[in-house]
Amino acid sequence: MQKSILITGGAGFIGSHVVKLFVSKYPKYKVVNLDSLTYAGNLENLKEVEKADNYVFEKVDLLEESGLKAVFEKHEITDVIHLAAESHVDRSISDPLAFVKTNVIGTVNLLNVARGYWKDYDAHLFYHVSTDEVYGSLDNGGYFEETTAYDPQSPYSASKASSDHFVRAYANTYGLRTVISNCSNNYGPNQFPEKLIPLCVHNIKNNKPLPIYGKGENVRDWLYVIDHAHAIDKIFHEGKAGETYNIGGWNEWQNINIVKLLCEIMDRKLGREKGTSSKLITFVKDRAGHDMRYAIDASKLEKELGWKPSLQFEEGIEKTVDWYLENEAWLEHVTSGDYQKYYIEHYQA
Ligand code: NAD
Ligand code: DAU
Repeated sequence: MQKSILITGGAGFIGSHVVKLFVSKYPKYKVVNLDSLTYAGNLENLKEVEKADNYVFEKVDLLEESGLKAVFEKHEITDVIHLAAESHVDRSISDPLAFVKTNVIGTVNLLNVARGYWKDYDAHLFYHVSTDEVYGSLDNGGYFEETTAYDPQSPYSASKASSDHFVRAYANTYGLRTVISNCSNNYGPNQFPEKLIPLCVHNIKNNKPLPIYGKGENVRDWLYVIDHAHAIDKIFHEGKAGETYNIGGWNEWQNINIVKLLCEIMDRKLGREKGTSSKLITFVKDRAGHDMRYAIDASKLEKELGWKPSLQFEEGIEKTVDWYLENEAWLEHVTSGDYQKYYIEHYQA
C-alpha cells in the first residue's frame, strides 16, 4: 500500500463520504476509519465499502490514548485526516464539556500519538477538518477569508477554534506537517436528522412542525457534502503544509427561505397541494447566541488548487430530498436508539 491513512469520524456524515471517496478512488491506499460510534456515527453509512480490501474499521474513542497508539502501530499509519468531533451547536449549548473532551482533548491526544509514532515528520501529514464557525458571525457584510481573526461564539465553535490552534501549535513547536480546512454548512445524504435540512425533510414527511429559530433571518452558506469530500481530497494531495484553506459554495440562504424551498419541493414530490407543507413552519425561541451570518470566500482554494463545487444548489437539494425519501429505513435506524443492534443483525450476519 502507498499510504495508510487514518480517517477519524468516518462513520459520521462528512467522514463517511470522505472514506467512500478515498476507498474507491485510491485502491493503493489503506483507509483506516477510526470512530467511537456516538449517536452520530453509523456504520450503515459505509455499506458500499465495508467489504473493500483497502478498508478497515476500528472502534476507538479519541480519548483513549492507548487505543489510538495501537491503531497507529497495527496499521502503520502514514497520514491522518481528522474529522471526528461533536458537531451539533445546540448540543454544545446544553453540554459544553462533551465538546471540550472530544474536540479539544481528543484532538490533542491524536496529535500526541501522531507526534510520538512518526519519526520523519516531513514524510507525513496531519490534516485537520474544521469549520467556518471559528471566525464568528458576519453581521455587517463581507466574507470569511483565511486571514479573518478567530472569534468563536458558541461552545462548539470555541472547541473547534481551540483544536485548530493546537494543530498550528504542534506544527510550530514540534515541526509536524499539518494543514487545516474551514468549511461552511454541508448538506446531502447521511446527515443526522438533528441538523436543519434533514430535520425539515423528516418533519414535513411526517406532518410535524418545522421549528425556525428566531425570525429565520440567519444566513448559512450551503455546500453539497460530496463537494466537500472532493475539496478534502484536493487539499490532502495538493495543499501546502502549514496552510489553511476555506471551503464554501458561494451559496448563502436565509434559514426561512431554505425551509420554504424544502416545503415546495416536498409538496411536489409527495403529491401534496402547493402550500400544504409551509403551514408546518413554526417560529420558536431563538438559539442562544445564534450567529447571524456565515459566508465563505473560497477563492484561495479555487485559484491555488483549482477546486470548484460541482453541483448547483438547486440540483443538490433535489438529490438530497430524493435520498431521504428513498432511504426512510436509514432515518428510522439512526433515530431508533437501537441502531447498532440493527446494523449487526442486518449487515454483519
Ligand atoms: P457528525 O456528527 O456527523 O460525525 C462525527 C463523527 O465523529 C461520528 O461518526 C462520531 O461517532 C465520531 N466521534 C465523535 N466523538 C468521537 C470520539 N470521542 N472518538 C471517536 N469518534 C468520535 O459530524 P460531521 O457533520 O460529519 O462533521 C465532521 C467534521 O467536519 C467535524 O469535525 C465538524 O466540525 C466538521 N465540519 C462539519 C460541517 C457540517 O456542516 N456538518 C461543516 C464544516 C466542518
Ligand atoms: O458552518 C458550519 C457548521 O454548520 C458546522 O461546523 C456544524 O458542525 C454544523 O452543525 C453546522 O452548524 P449550524 O448550526 O449552522 O447548523 P444547523 O443545521 O444546526 O442549523 C442551521 C441554521 O438553522 C442555524 O442558523 C440554526 C437554524 N435552525 C437549526 C435547527 C436544527 C433552526 O432554525 N431550526 C432548527 O431546528
